[in-house]
Order: sequence, then structure tokens, then C-alpha cells
Amino acid sequence: MTLDTKTNLSADELEDLSFDDFDEAINPRPENNDFDAVVEQAISRRGFMGGVLSLGGVTALGAATTALTPISARAAENRFGFTAIAASTEDTITVPDGYNWHVATRWGDPLFSDVPEFDHATRGTAASQARAFGDNNDGMAIFTDKDGHQILVANNEYTNRSVIWGNNPEGKYVSDDDILKGKNAHGLTAAELKEVDGKWQIVKDSPYNRRFTPDEPMDITGPARGHALMQTNADPTGETVLGTFNNCGNGRTPWGTYLACEENFNGYFGTSDADGYEQDAGKKRYGVSGKDRGYGWWKIDDRFDVVKEPNEANRHGYITEVDPYDPTSKPKKRTALGRFKHENAEVVVNFDGRIAIYMGDDERGEFLYRYVSDGYYAEGGNTDALMENGTIYAAKFEADGTGKWLALTPEATGMDKAMICIQTRMAASAVGATTMDRPEWVTANPLKAEVYCALTNNKNRGIKPNAGGDETPVGGPNPREANKYGQIVRWWPSNGDHTADTFKWDLFVMAGNPTVHQDMNGGSTNVNEGNMFNSPDGLSFDNKGLLWIQTDGNYSNEEDFAGQGNNQMLIGDPATGEIRRFLVGPREAEITGISWSADRRTVFVGVQHPGERGDSNWPDGGDKTPRSSIIAVRRDDGAVIG
Ligand code: FEO
Ligand code: CA
Ligand code: CA
Repeated sequence: MTLDTKTNLSADELEDLSFDDFDEAINPRPENNDFDAVVEQAISRRGFMGGVLSLGGVTALGAATTALTPISARAAENRFGFTAIAASTEDTITVPDGYNWHVATRWGDPLFSDVPEFDHATRGTAASQARAFGDNNDGMAIFTDKDGHQILVANNEYTNRSVIWGNNPEGKYVSDDDILKGKNAHGLTAAELKEVDGKWQIVKDSPYNRRFTPDEPMDITGPARGHALMQTNADPTGETVLGTFNNCGNGRTPWGTYLACEENFNGYFGTSDADGYEQDAGKKRYGVSGKDRGYGWWKIDDRFDVVKEPNEANRHGYITEVDPYDPTSKPKKRTALGRFKHENAEVVVNFDGRIAIYMGDDERGEFLYRYVSDGYYAEGGNTDALMENGTIYAAKFEADGTGKWLALTPEATGMDKAMICIQTRMAASAVGATTMDRPEWVTANPLKAEVYCALTNNKNRGIKPNAGGDETPVGGPNPREANKYGQIVRWWPSNGDHTADTFKWDLFVMAGNPTVHQDMNGGSTNVNEGNMFNSPDGLSFDNKGLLWIQTDGNYSNEEDFAGQGNNQMLIGDPATGEIRRFLVGPREAEITGISWSADRRTVFVGVQHPGERGDSNWPDGGDKTPRSSIIAVRRDDGAVIG
């Protein structure tokens, strides 16, 4: 067995790591934080006391004795409309009494009638995959045209090598077609959905059906367009790029477009000439290491060889805007929204008409961002400049429950506008933004100026700096060392103004396990034995102002995670702090992505990577290949659901 010289891990071991662990193995962080700084930023008591964590008259710091306090006193007048369900380790979907579910679409479902149905023996070919629903669906949105057609757009974030190539020895590619099949399973899928005999399914051959693979031509727009760092042999102008991949969460604009958010783009760049690769500071900060995570694209496409095309990696890590209503439209990479490991993009129209877009950078110790447009949104007006001309900010949280948005301007960062958009992480480090516990989805309350962000977990909190060397002290919205469980932070923009430079914040929930821990790892007072979970990730408000919470966490159901079962979806009430479990997913899956049908009688929910370690045959059962899917959940009485 050949071991990687830097990490002493075999190629298999390296490829099986999580995205963050892979990056750290390849680019080790310095071993220690500066502990003086850690001590100085002691845990923020006031931040907790302002919010629901003070339910029951104690702060989160007192959670040891109160974590099991029942919230049943409010049961009779709650807004949930369902009875919470128990945790589960079954290989199926569980929903409350009075609700039902079915699969609307799965990995490999054909978009066109001349494409064969998914073949469990071969798991498809490069050609079939290019015209079928992609793998590992994540963020998604449903759009409705003027005739009522429902158009789904979904991210196909990545592939699990042991699943897509599970028909091959060792679950690896053995041919160029295998590699291309994996590549074509990435990107986005647009498909019309329709209810037939009570079940949602793809309308084959709908004019809206379209795949956006990593080879789809796109325009580069915004400050980075044409910059020297964006130029390649294939595109000496730096103005067009092929494809989008590893899109995690999503956004949607009020003008009816879809936003795909590129996350762990670095894991696709490799090279056969490791000695010839010089990793500069920018490549290092983003984890472009010259070693890919086992996808092999660089073997069939020179773009992904970092020695042959050192700038190609600079052209990924952005947000791409797609018009679902025009299947011939060319997507636009909006560099003005910055380059980092984007989670999602929550677009808010401020009361004055300007656009605010909240965005997380999901890596240990990276930042939370906001973009504010220079221009104003008017329905029916020209919206093209709204995501071109504006300012990116990074969040700074103070221990006293206040915070500031720090503008990433040339004056503040010493970088020009294009560089701020290409090396956004370095710009945010330069202004001293707060290093966060992996910011995942952000969602804004539709009923008031209030915004929530899932901070999923961070085993390096208080232990190691981020990839740029910024310290990660314990405190503020990141209150636990080596954070295993995650938390949800929320903030209120000053004067209800999403463009204001200041805000107040608190924690809505600290996840934990009160059956195992008597300290802060037991979670906040709104976490109990009946609703506990770990690693909040997907977040979305419904129209009633309830917060839907999806998890992507440890599903071992053992030790720190005993009793938490498979990944799940819960619903929280921002007004009371109560959280109820609504859905549990199949084995080894995460629950991610959510959108509603036009009549809001169906909620579509994403189920990603069931059986990523070999222990699931969901949804097709028997000995079938597990398949990432989008399910439709409805009430038995057909009433509106959220
Ligand atoms: Fe693709 Fe941050 O999860
Ligand atoms: Ca996610
Ligand atoms: Ca996650």
C-alpha cells in the first residue's frame, strides 16, 4: 500500500475523509491556538440570556440541571399541528401520524423518454447520466410558470464513489467512462414535476428539463470577470467558464431565478505532476492541494490538472444564477458575491428595495457574510446589476450580544475589488471577522427582520486556527471547545434594516445530548431527550414563520450521539423556542434541501447519500443500490403544510 508522504494515509483512507478532514490532512493547521486570546474571550453570558436559552429562568450555562425540563406546558396552544416523532435507526423515512411521503425523483431517473431507466447493475453510463437526474441532491427550489407548471431545480452536490462505482472492484473508477459518469452526476438538474395518480414525478421531455453538468458553458460576471487570475489556456479572456459543481445549499431571487452555491470545489483538482505544483497562499487558504478526493477528473480533462491549468480553481467557489424559465439561457457566475465554500444564499429585499444576501462559508473557523446591492429591486425592473454592483461584508460578533458587519472594501482590506471577490477569505481575515463553527444555511424570517444561521459543529474550536491562521477562541456564538453538536445563531438587524452595519444576536438553540452530558454538551434548555439532534445544517422558514431544521451529523447512535438515531428534520418555533422532531431519514443519509409546491400542500425534502458507508438500500429496498432522492411529504387530509 502506498502512503501519502505528507499524511501517512493511504489513498483510500484519504478519499474516505470528510471534506474538512481531507483538507486538514493535506494542509495541516498549526497545532495550537493562542490560549491567552481564548481566555480573554470567555463565554458570553449576556448573549445567551437575551434569547430562548434563558427559558425556565436559567442560562445555557445552567443547562446541566435543566436540559430535561419538559416544554409540555405549551403543548395545547402550540403552532405545530403534529405530534413529535421518536428518533429512529430504521432504513426508511418516518413522519408524524397524519402525514405521508413518497419519492418524487431519485438519482438516475431519466429526464427524457429516450434515456433508459436507472440500471442497478451498472448504475448508468456517462451518456445516460448526462440526461438523468444527478446524484446527491442538496439545495433545491420549485418555480411555477404562468400556466402552473412546477419546475424543480436541484443541486447535485457530489457523488459517493463507493455508490456510483459500487459495481466495480473496490468501488473505484476503472474507465474514462466511469470518471465521466461521475462528473456528469454533478451539477444541477432542472425538471418539471407533476402529480400523477396522487404522486409527484418528473414530466419526461418537458421543455424545462435540463442538466447543467461541469461542462455547461457559463458567463463569468462581476468584478473578477477578465482578471488575470481568471484566465486559462481554454479561456484567455477570463470571461467564460465551463460548469458548476459541488453546489450545496441554494438561493432564489425575488425575480424568479435560482442560485446554486459552490462549496468544496477544491477537492476536484489533482495532478500527475505533484512535484511541479507550487501551492501559493491563495490555493492554500482554499485547500487546493494538487490531490483530488478520488473523482479523477484531472485524468480526462486538463482543466482539473492544477499544474497544467493553475488558474482553473480560481474560477470555482462562486454563486451561479440560473433562469429556470428559459431552458436556453446561459448561467452566470456572480463573482460579486465572493468566492469561498458557499453553503446557501438567503436573498432578502430590504424595506428600501436594496437586496441583502446572507451567505455562510462552511469550513472550520471560516466566516459569515452579507452582500448588499448598490441598486434597488423593483418588480418587473432590470435586475441584472443587483448582483454585480454591491459590497460584501463579514460578520464580527461581540461577546455582549451585539455585532457588526465589516465591509470588505479596498480601503479596509488593501485588496482591489476583483481580488476581494476572488480571495474573499483573505479579505475577511484582513478586517478581523469572527471565525465561526462552520456556517451552513442561513434563513430569514418572512414575518420580521430576523435571520438564523446553522453552525453545524467544529472540532477545532478553541484548539486550532482556521486555514488562514486566524485564531478560533471559545466564546460569543461559538461557545464550546471542540464543538461536537452545533448551534443555531440568530440576529436582528438594527432598526429592522438588513443593510445596517450593526445587529444584536443570541443563540436560538445549542444542540447536545442531555442523556449523556451534564454540562454545556447537554444542550440548551429547549433540547431534551425527546427532540435531541446534532449538526444542524439545512434551515428554512415556512410561510407561517416556523423554522425547519435539517441535520447532517453523526448517525452512529452511540456514545455522544446515543439516542439521536439517523439524521432528521425538526421544526422550531422562534417565538417560544420549542423544537419538535418532524421527520427521520434512512440510514447513513443526511436530510438537506427543502421547497414547497405552489399550493403548499406538498413539502419537498432532500435525502442525500443514503448508504454512504454501505448500510442502506433506500429507497428501492431489497439489495438495490441506495439512491439520493427528493421526497414529497403531505398531510393525509390534504391541508397546507407550512
Ligand atoms: Fe455541503 Fe456545508 O454542506
Ligand atoms: Ca450542507
Ligand atoms: Ca453539513
